[in-house]
Amino acid sequence: MQDILKVAMPKGRIYKPASKLFREAGLAIPEDMEDSRKLIIPVPEARMEFIMAKPVDVATYVEYGVADIGIAGKDLLMEENRDVYELLDLGIARCRMSVIGLPDWKPVLNPRVATKYPNVASQYFREQGQQVEVIKLNGSIELAPLIGLADRIVDMVETGSTIRENGLMEHEQIFAITSRLIANRVSYRMKSEAIQALCDRLQPVIAAVASASK
Ligand code: PRP
Repeated sequence: MQDILKVAMPKGRIYKPASKLFREAGLAIPEDMEDSRKLIIPVPEARMEFIMAKPVDVATYVEYGVADIGIAGKDLLMEENRDVYELLDLGIARCRMSVIGLPDWKPVLNPRVATKYPNVASQYFREQGQQVEVIKLNGSIELAPLIGLADRIVDMVETGSTIRENGLMEHEQIFAITSRLIANRVSYRMKSEAIQALCDRLQPVIAAVASASK
C-alpha cells in the first residue's frame, strides 16, 4: 500500500476551478475546504492530504518535498524556475502574461517596467534586445504607469477588466497561462502509482472541459 499523497492546493482564484476538477475526477474533497482556517486537511477516503497554500508558495513546498504534488500557475513556474516535474496542463485559470501601458505610450531610452514577475520581464526584454529597468512590486501593478512609477508593466491579464477600468492597454502578449499539476522529483518515483492514478482520473475530465469550451 502506498502512502498518503500530500497535495499543495493554492488558495484564491485557482482554488475553485481546481477543486471542481478534482471533484469531477471522483475525489471526494470537502466543499468547505477553503473557507476553513485549517491549513492541513486530510481526506482519508482519497488517500490524500491537502496543504492549503498561498499560490506563490506551492512550487516551493513541492520542490522541497513537503508536498508530493501541487497545483501552480504557469506564470509562477516561469518566474521561479523550480526544480519540479510538470505533469499535466489542467487547462484552468486561463489567462496571459502581457506588456501593458498607457495607450499613448512612446518608447523611451531605458524605460522602467514594474512587475510582480521580475525574471519573466527581464528575460522577455532581454530577448527583445531592449534595455529596461525592472521594478519589483507585490500587487496593484496597474497603478505604476498611472502614478508615474513606471513606463510600462508586465502583468497577468484574465478578463481584461483591470486594465480597462484603469485606462490602460495591452501592448504585447508574452505567453499563455494555465494551471499545472506539478510533482516533487523523488515523490514522482516513490509514489508513482498514486500519482499516475490521479493523472489517469484527471485527464478525461480535463479533455471534457477543453472540448466543451471549444
Ligand atoms: C491580477 C493581475 C491583474 C488582474 C488581472 O491581480 O495582477 O491585476 O488580476 O485580472 P483581470 O484581467 O481579470 O482584471 P490580482 O487580483 O491577483 O491582485 P494584485 O493586484 O494583488 O496582484
